[in-house]
Amino acid sequence: MVALRIETFSGPDLAPVLPALARLRIDVFRAWPYLYDGDPASEERYLVEFAKAPTAGLVLAFDGEEPVGCSSCLPLAEAGPALSVPFAARGIDPARVFYFGESVLLPRYRGQGVGVAFFAAREAHARRLTACDFAAFCAVERPPDHPLKPAGAVSLDAFWRRRGFVPYPDMTCTMAWKQVDTAVDVTNTLAFWMKSLTGASLP
Ligand SMILES: CC(C)(COP(=O)(O)OP(=O)(O)OC[C@H]1O[C@@H](n2cnc3c(N)ncnc32)[C@H](O)[C@@H]1OP(=O)(O)O)[C@@H](O)C(=O)NCCC(=O)NCCS
Repeated sequence: MVALRIETFSGPDLAPVLPALARLRIDVFRAWPYLYDGDPASEERYLVEFAKAPTAGLVLAFDGEEPVGCSSCLPLAEAGPALSVPFAARGIDPARVFYFGESVLLPRYRGQGVGVAFFAAREAHARRLTACDFAAFCAVERPPDHPLKPAGAVSLDAFWRRRGFVPYPDMTCTMAWKQVDTAVDVTNTLAFWMKSLTGASLP
């Protein structure tokens, strides 16, 4: 097993590592359950927005000098209305929430604690730079009988619960992306999960 180095980037250090995030997103999200047929142009639009947030953070896992996984986070208030409106609609001030974006790790490096380290590093980043009460992320919803679901697919729900997150299945957002099985963008539903960072009661 290769020992990986985990490092958090933010501020002016963010721009040079954005291409690694784009590559890993396109590579890892092609698989179930995201089925994302990513292209560099849409990645660039997404990353330009992401990097505008002054307290955005990116956690990278390196095998030697090679980035093999990464995980992003930024204040929900700076993550755009598609993500923040469901919180405001539920009476949660988006300013109290730090949003955790994707975690993507190349398959051969899984099962050795990098995913756990991604959560720990993002929580540390949120606590260091903000007074946010909650961390939140969202995950795509797929029907259990989806034709592209692999036989041995394991849900990450238990992994997320063990990180202290609580599912909010009735609190959702939608995002559109072109899938490996479609010719055009498809609107997908993603459900939120939340965790208290400060001991404040979860809504
Ligand atoms: C999500 C993802 C990054 C998790 O990666 P991972 O590195 O395999 O996860 P980990 O190894 O940290 O955790 C898996 C389990 O192994 C355990 N583990 C194994 N070796 C470990 C070690 N050396 N140290 C700590 N934990 C270890 C973890 O504790 C965890 O078990 P637990 O939930 O019972 O605590 C990875 O599955 C992935 O890229 N998936 C595809 C993309 C995706 O769906 N992302 C999520 C939505 S954005």
